[in-house]
Amino acid sequence: MRLTRRHFLSTALGAGAVTAAGIPALFSACTASKAGTPPSSPPTQFNPPAQASFPKGFFWGTATASYQIEGAWKEDGKGESIWDRFAHTPGKIKNAETGDVACDSYHRWAEDIALMRAMNLNSYRFSISWPRIQPSGTGTANQKGIDYYSRLVDGLLAAQIRPFVTLYHWDLPQALQDAGGWTNRDLAGRFADYVQVMAKTLGDRVSDWMLFNEPSVFTYSGYLVGEHAPGQASIVDFLRATHVVNLAQGAGFRALKAVRPSARVGTAFNMSACEPATNSEADRLAAERAHAITNVWFLETALHGRYPGAFTFLPESIMRINSGDMEQMRAPLDFVGINLYVRTIASSVGAFERATHLQDWLFPVKMEGGHEGPMTDMGWEVWPKALYDMIMRITRDYNRPVIEITESGCAYNEGPDAGGAVRDGRRTAYHQGYLAGVAQAISEGADVRGYHAWSLLDNFEWAEGYSQRFGLSYVDYSTQKRTIKDSGKWYARVAAANRLPA
Ligand code: FCB
Repeated sequence: MRLTRRHFLSTALGAGAVTAAGIPALFSACTASKAGTPPSSPPTQFNPPAQASFPKGFFWGTATASYQIEGAWKEDGKGESIWDRFAHTPGKIKNAETGDVACDSYHRWAEDIALMRAMNLNSYRFSISWPRIQPSGTGTANQKGIDYYSRLVDGLLAAQIRPFVTLYHWDLPQALQDAGGWTNRDLAGRFADYVQVMAKTLGDRVSDWMLFNEPSVFTYSGYLVGEHAPGQASIVDFLRATHVVNLAQGAGFRALKAVRPSARVGTAFNMSACEPATNSEADRLAAERAHAITNVWFLETALHGRYPGAFTFLPESIMRINSGDMEQMRAPLDFVGINLYVRTIASSVGAFERATHLQDWLFPVKMEGGHEGPMTDMGWEVWPKALYDMIMRITRDYNRPVIEITESGCAYNEGPDAGGAVRDGRRTAYHQGYLAGVAQAISEGADVRGYHAWSLLDNFEWAEGYSQRFGLSYVDYSTQKRTIKDSGKWYARVAAANRLPA
């Protein structure tokens, strides 16, 4: 089975990876033979106090990404990105949709800032399209691209909204893909050059940066499964890409700090609390392996210069790990960005599969999403405890780092009613629940500085096209009219009060 993005977050690496010709998939769908009993205290929906205050200065934000909202795909000198190429390839995106126009935020950014003001927000996480800056991935910067982001940053500052900038949210210049993309080690240096251009041009006004968005997702979906750009399906490419991204994270961090030493630099990691399916030792080990590959494959490397124990052995030669690389990967990130939507249930694969399949020998884990909570239209389980659990785990394991919730949200597809209102009570309930989890974690000592709802606007949801609406604002794609949904109005009240209402 070919995984779709809908399945991705709930199955991550564990199930159904495709096999590139001649190369065995390392992560296959094997049915676990279950030993053990359910965990003694079965995970339940937890019940943190619904009413809660947040620390003074807490950042209330929304998040977006360039390809998902900007449109203007070939305007003002912008180069082609891998997402332009991928979306223009027949059969890749639901309903043959593309990000050519998307939410037209390239032209409507001022209107979008007005939406944020109406929601009382003080932080906006957006990404920079690398090919707007370097159309072919290297060399002299395209001034018009820089001007666009410069105007946006100035507009945000004038509205007293923190610009919170992601440097790479998946739209690689196609020219760099033609040279091998993230499997090519040269990309680490190219990325560092691009980061430095941005630090020089925006760093006088932007202090908070994320190097990458969800490195585990774009390497997995783009290189192993092939359902995202660049559409490759090779375990070898996947493993190599993860290593090059780790090198790029280290190089990008140093490049940014060289220009702006006081900037705060992190990455937005895709995370999912991994629970063992039963309390057997094997399932508990499986959950730890799931945690290692899903949550900290790009964090343990940055903070400790080593790969976590996801596999039964580290395939160093396949990954092309050279001597000195572990040092290069190090990046003492100023904060840990957490994007969290779902939890993962992990179980071990049986002895027979391990003995007969290379993939199960290397990664003897089956992962799936939970099914006890309500399901969103995307097919993702609503489970607020996952966010609380993940924040507490990172707080414990990494010595109470600064944490930013860089994304969380849900797809529900209701549109305006006859009176023009968008009654999306389920989205309000989602954010109320996840925010209560954040508040609980803060009350237990976690240092969480902000929460960014995904997303400001309904937008282009990758392989799902426009079929999944995550926005706090509804977008009518035929007119580009934006309407703040009931959830957005609720979020505005929460942000203004800096507390969750009862
Ligand atoms: C995250 C992505 C973001 C968006 C949400 C729904 O994994 O970072 O771009 O697609 O999922």
